[in-house]
Amino acid sequence: MSARGCFVTGSDTGAGKTVVGCALVRALRARGIDVGVLKPIETGVDEAGPHDAIALREAAGSVESIGAICPQQFALPAAPTVAAKHEGREVDLGVIDRAFTDCAARHDFVLTEGAGGLLVPAAPGVTMADLAARFELPLVVAARAALGTINHTLLTLEAAAARGLDVIGVVISHVDGALSVADAANLELLRDALGEQLIGEIPPLAPGSDAPADAINVDRVLAGAGRR
Ligand SMILES: Nc1ncnc2c1ncn2[C@@H]1O[C@H](COP(=O)(O)OP(=O)(O)OP(=O)(O)O)[C@@H](O)[C@H]1O
Ligand SMILES: [Mg+2]
Repeated sequence: MSARGCFVTGSDTGAGKTVVGCALVRALRARGIDVGVLKPIETGVDEAGPHDAIALREAAGSVESIGAICPQQFALPAAPTVAAKHEGREVDLGVIDRAFTDCAARHDFVLTEGAGGLLVPAAPGVTMADLAARFELPLVVAARAALGTINHTLLTLEAAAARGLDVIGVVISHVDGALSVADAANLELLRDALGEQLIGEIPPLAPGSDAPADAINVDRVLAGAGRR
């Protein structure tokens, strides 16, 4: 299984994956690229549906069914294996594989959002990192601009390298709004540590507003996302 695309993972849960993914989808579409989106597994799904998949679908201007975009949905806001077990189910990788293959067949670029961080279990014995490897997608890492992000982000990059996963780069997102002086100083250190690996930064957004069109270096994403 392979496609031109990327797998958006995070330094943590709530690190800005969906915001980064949506920003990337919009920026790619602005370049005239036909982007398909996937949120293979979403947990914490309520009556309103899978929020991340709905946001990605809207960003993509997609008319596909939410079930096609998010084939595995669970109510408990927990890791996928935990949320599935809670319902007496197991994550069905076959269904996910079919959704990926269909999406790759229909679109020029497949943007996939993981759940949680890289080593979160996606299915029994299968991590999010394994899912990215299964789809042969290079990573975009969303990093939360807050205390703790240096460690979480560098650990994520090290875990990716240890597994032989390609990393396109890191996008910092100002998830918690304006930074304290201490957080701002910390973030400067992360920017320095990442150097060329930093491919974007999403400033604090007002509720309901989209990221600036130039927040992410799309050329870097396209260069790193070629069919392998
Ligand atoms: N730059 C930003 N400015 C303001 N709010 C942001 C920004 N980035 C993210 N957020 C908010 O922070 C929260 C977490 O972001 P997001 O949902 O993108 O993270 P995630 O990694 O996708 O989370 P999950 O693990 O649940 O999928 C959301 O409420 C989102 O709207
Ligand atoms: Mg998300």
